[in-house]
Amino acid sequence: MEFIIVTEQYYPGIALIQLNRPKELNALNRKLMEEVRDALQALDKNEGVRVIIITGNEQAFAAGADIKQMADKSAIDMLLIDQFSTWDQIRRTKKPIIAAVSGFALGGGCEFTMMCDMIIASETAKFGQPEIKIGTIPGAGGTQRLTKAIGKAKAMELILTGRFLSAEEAHFYGLVNKVVPVEMLMHEAVELAKEIAQMSPVAVQLAKEAINRSFETQLDEGLAFERKNFYLTFASADQKEGMQAFIEKRKPTYTGK
Ligand code: CAA
Repeated sequence: MEFIIVTEQYYPGIALIQLNRPKELNALNRKLMEEVRDALQALDKNEGVRVIIITGNEQAFAAGADIKQMADKSAIDMLLIDQFSTWDQIRRTKKPIIAAVSGFALGGGCEFTMMCDMIIASETAKFGQPEIKIGTIPGAGGTQRLTKAIGKAKAMELILTGRFLSAEEAHFYGLVNKVVPVEMLMHEAVELAKEIAQMSPVAVQLAKEAINRSFETQLDEGLAFERKNFYLTFASADQKEGMQAFIEKRKPTYTGK
């Protein structure tokens, strides 16, 4: 594993996946997400594991999909690469997943946390879908899951402006389960995991599946729609300008083309 660290028994019955690309604020490139997929598949089959915690570092859970890897792609490239099909494993995982979030959880990073089952946030956590600022839109569930989690008006505001939600606001809107001081983040996530790990793993799996069924009815159609629109933005000059401007650390100029 190049970009993640997996600890099978972080605590008895509790596995930890740490996203580990700190210099790039854990930007989610395709290799990193393939490693996450493989780790989740293995942990799901591992009988000694009851609950999985996924975390980043103090600065960032993840600052989004890797812009540098996507910037010059065409809409057809994006459609053919279909990078988010790898991400589908997160929601296919049968065991419960807790995201322990400090710092930035933006774009694909925010979408990643929302694909987990519960979120514990540190006081420094910042959630957002800033794709609009780089000439594109969320592509890994943001328009669907954020809207369901915090309601249409707030989701519109965040997705159309790229503003961030503080940890406190995220808690207020029901996006996260609990907010704790940074130094308590892993302790709190483990406490939650320990409680769940004591329950019947069969009942836990069935309950998770049933909750997701209530939450995710009609989600598939919405996700497919969002994914196509996300790929479609790569046919625009504005997406090229937005991502290039990010890379060159300047303000973008959008032409609507
Ligand atoms: N992709 C690639 N590299 C990224 C990145 C990303 N999403 N986010 C940060 N980085 C890199 C920066 O380019 C920088 O690298 P260099 O040192 O080589 O220049 C390094 O990480 C540190 O970042 P900054 O210098 O920008 O740090 P900052 O503290 O000044 O700003 C930030 C932090 C506000 C998070 C800023 O980095 C930022 O805006 N990042 C992009 C956020 C974003 O737009 N995310 C959405 C991506 S698209 C997406 O996710 C699509 C989807 O739906 C899946």
